[in-house]
Amino acid sequence: MDNLPSLYQDKDHLRGSQYKDSSNLNARAELHRRFSTASVDWFTWVLDKLSLTANMQLLEVGAGPGWLWRRHLHRIPVGCQITLTDFSPGMVSEAEAALLGTDGQFQFRVANVEELPFSDEQFDLVVANHMLYHVPDLNKGLQEIRRVLRPGGRLVAATNGNAHLQELNEIGQVVFPDLLGEGRQSWAGLAFGLENGRFLLAPWFDQIEQYVYDDSLLVNEVEPLVAYMFSTIASQAVDQSQNVEKLRRYLTQRLADEGVIHITKSTGLFVAHKVGCFPVP
Ligand SMILES: C[S@@+](CC[C@H](N)C(=O)[O-])C[C@H]1O[C@@H](n2cnc3c(N)ncnc32)[C@H](O)[C@@H]1O
Repeated sequence: MDNLPSLYQDKDHLRGSQYKDSSNLNARAELHRRFSTASVDWFTWVLDKLSLTANMQLLEVGAGPGWLWRRHLHRIPVGCQITLTDFSPGMVSEAEAALLGTDGQFQFRVANVEELPFSDEQFDLVVANHMLYHVPDLNKGLQEIRRVLRPGGRLVAATNGNAHLQELNEIGQVVFPDLLGEGRQSWAGLAFGLENGRFLLAPWFDQIEQYVYDDSLLVNEVEPLVAYMFSTIASQAVDQSQNVEKLRRYLTQRLADEGVIHITKSTGLFVAHKVGCFPVP
């Protein structure tokens, strides 16, 4: 399947299939949750980096089902107003069902980050957690984020690096060489990643810091790996009904031989500051 790279930024595919609801994200989160070696979980780590203070106006773009907030309600300072947006109506409904009524500090809106339905300089902080690599016109998205931030405001943008889950890419190439083999697979090389993020943010923000999350996976079960791999955009190249057994057999043998599969993680975030209000390109 040669058009895989474009599926990562194909709005119809993202809204109507991959992120129609949280089921694919859930399969992936389950692998991280159960087999992570990190000392602090991902969303707690991200929340620490937000440096929330009282009475902040906060916008999350591509918020998915609102996981960042669900287990951290007690950590939201008094007076904060948090607007959760996503261009998938299914995701916004899930976020709303989970968070509506929790002290009234949340608002929900279906919105594409390339056309934010908010006034200039409305927010102190914008969060974009693992979503900027899906935006076809990234400069439009960053321009919009900058526009809605007040001077002195910040963007916190999380993403992955090229080595993220590289062992899963290798497994995909070995088990499905015709579909995901050399020159065909497209799991790595995100449009907005840890390697190129600073460069891409630089035209729009004045000061940029990068933080790396220390983690890896040690997996000793077959089924969470199968569920993960068949939840990804890359797996669109593989007919699940015909190939799931092939993957299962390979992983079962690997685990019988090795006991555990080590998987590299490369994940982190940028904190980008809008210091002034000078015009940008
Ligand atoms: C990998 S998920 C991350 C969800 C959530 N931020 C999290 O970390 O759990 C990416 C999310 O971005 C949303 N998304 C992708 N492109 C978008 C766009 N152009 N505007 C708004 N949301 C978008 C998807 O619908 C999906 O919910």
